[in-house]
Amino acid sequence: MFSKWAKRIVAAAFVLAIGWWVFSGEDEERLFASALTEADYLQPTPLIVNPRGRDTVSLNGPWNIIIDPQDRGLPTRALGLTLPGFFENLQDTGPMELVEYRFDESEKLQVPGDWNTQREDLFWYKERVWYQRYFDVARQDTQSYHLYFGAAHYEAHIAVNGVYAGTHKGGFTPFNLDVTDLLVDGQNSVVVSVSSKLSHGTVPTANTDWFNYGGLTRDVMLVSTPSIFIQDYEVTLLDEVTKDIRVAIDLNQPMRDVPVRVKIAELNADISMTTDRDGHAEARLTAPNAMLWSPETPHLYDVTLETGGAEIQDRIGLRTIRVEGDRILLNGQTVFLRGMSAHEETTTRYGRNATPDDGKAVLSLIKELGGNYVRLAHYPHNAHTVKLADEMGLMVWSEIPVYWDVDWHDTGSLADARNQLEEMITRDRNRASVITWSIGNETPNSDARLSFMENLADHARAVDSTRPVSAALVGDEVGQQLGQAIAVRALTSDDTPEATKQAIREFLGPLNSWLLDQALAWEIIDPQAPIIIELEDPLGDSVDIVGINEYIGWYYAAFLSPVFDIPEAELREQMFELMPNITLRNAYGKPLVISETGAGAVAGRRDPDMSIWSEDYQAKVYERQIEMLQNSDQLAGLSPWIIKDFRSAMRPLNGVQDFWNRKGLVSETGERKAAFHVLKAYYQGLAASEAAQSEPPQNANDELE
Ligand code: GCU
Repeated sequence: MFSKWAKRIVAAAFVLAIGWWVFSGEDEERLFASALTEADYLQPTPLIVNPRGRDTVSLNGPWNIIIDPQDRGLPTRALGLTLPGFFENLQDTGPMELVEYRFDESEKLQVPGDWNTQREDLFWYKERVWYQRYFDVARQDTQSYHLYFGAAHYEAHIAVNGVYAGTHKGGFTPFNLDVTDLLVDGQNSVVVSVSSKLSHGTVPTANTDWFNYGGLTRDVMLVSTPSIFIQDYEVTLLDEVTKDIRVAIDLNQPMRDVPVRVKIAELNADISMTTDRDGHAEARLTAPNAMLWSPETPHLYDVTLETGGAEIQDRIGLRTIRVEGDRILLNGQTVFLRGMSAHEETTTRYGRNATPDDGKAVLSLIKELGGNYVRLAHYPHNAHTVKLADEMGLMVWSEIPVYWDVDWHDTGSLADARNQLEEMITRDRNRASVITWSIGNETPNSDARLSFMENLADHARAVDSTRPVSAALVGDEVGQQLGQAIAVRALTSDDTPEATKQAIREFLGPLNSWLLDQALAWEIIDPQAPIIIELEDPLGDSVDIVGINEYIGWYYAAFLSPVFDIPEAELREQMFELMPNITLRNAYGKPLVISETGAGAVAGRRDPDMSIWSEDYQAKVYERQIEMLQNSDQLAGLSPWIIKDFRSAMRPLNGVQDFWNRKGLVSETGERKAAFHVLKAYYQGLAASEAAQSEPPQNANDELE
């Protein structure tokens, strides 16, 4: 039927088509294009609350690794094929097989742990590392299995037994993946690719004054649950007087009539509930004898939650926290926050905290100071640390890393920030120590930023209506009003050189300079009047607690000196003179917390002449700050910056900083600087007077006995 030629033409056309298909590869220009784009990402399953109180197997320990600076291990497309990359954990089983990577017998990294301080050659590494390990599972068909990560900095892709299972973004919050369908009975393999690359589209961006530690920085575990299990739960004291307690649970599925039991033995509470059609159940109980959690009495109750034969154990404190006017009320009593800010580094070793002991070393320093509060900056710290704060009696400000120059217009950044906020709150919802959720730090005022932050404030309240929302504001007003005060004093002082007055007038500009002269002439401005610095950042309207970061005594003199042509040393002196005369307040009548203040010092550097970087200068800044803050009637607490010197890539000053931020009250190895003792005396004095005030009045009878 077909001529010889016709057959040859058809055969040739067929060969050409195959050749074109195999070798032309229509997107040759995008050879090795990633086959795993954002659109392909599988999201983690809803977060399981309190995994450690459940049936878990730890996957901590040494993991095989492959360092992958060019993302070569990611699935790619080439020649029309999808190459699975390192997820597959391919093994070359014969001498003729080409497999260009191998996890077995590869180098190892410890999990949990950052890679930067485990290997010198990875100290500055901010790309991708692949982790792999095997683990055995005696699979039960009645059980579900969840891979739980305490955190992976920054973006993690996970595969189990060669199958891609999911992706998580955000380096400081937990996530879990339901891997029930991917597990086999016996040996299983998990592969995790972690990239610590940050950009303008991440939260935080790469522009941070803390070190970008990468890796599987927190615990990894396999959690097994019944197929229907308690996903999230809450035990909350509603009223410190009536001692009404709300107990609520949510199952992992919208299932009706599932029996749930909650026991608090010490309160003789044994509550049985059944779920509604959404898989939700809640009950109220009244515990008149309940002991309330506070820093002085950090009492925790053992709580057992049970459904489907699976028990969850937790230790939960009962307390109320709210804001009234410019007061923060803990259990209905005004509380003053005697705190410190802390990054997630410890004094006992280098790197990001990974174990409870790491956190304990730092929290103990704050207790030693006489502190009752810690600001965990600028991201959610390890779950261990927050549980320790519960046990040790430290109130906690917990924050998401919406920091400095996040892209306020980027919907991806907003989604990322909202997700981190939700994960932070869900993880620590039952931690009595956590008194406020902070939605960010030093975010420069703009309309885009304001709507971004308002969105976060609303989201925080939607996820948890029981805690005040806060933010650390940069307070441009401080620099501006300090500058004005300095300018007025300089312009009205006969000692000020003419050149300086000229420089100030140039800085003010002719109109402002004229207006200032009028105001001085008409005594509208009194150069000796107290300086009221009022924070008006519009974000103050959306939060419940207004945090302000102010560095009077440290940064402002350096900023103003070149502007006013006044020698910095002179300005520093003037600042110290001005401080007792300064009152900080916010325009919203809300509690004012000094979320940051402080100065840098090299431990061991002493100088009676008060040169900066000396412990003496730092101590003087603390003395003046403490004096100045007494003027603020809205002051509800402080968390000076910072308990310990910490690593930062933006601090290169050799011989002084050497990539450490030196504002710690202790050095990186725990050496206490002079300012540590200044603040300790202040806090212990406050604690003693509070204790004296809360002493029940001696009644006549006692004396008689
Ligand atoms: C800022 C910022 C911190 C930073 C500190 C400093 O206020 O919030 O992250 O480390 O100042 O300059 O030391």
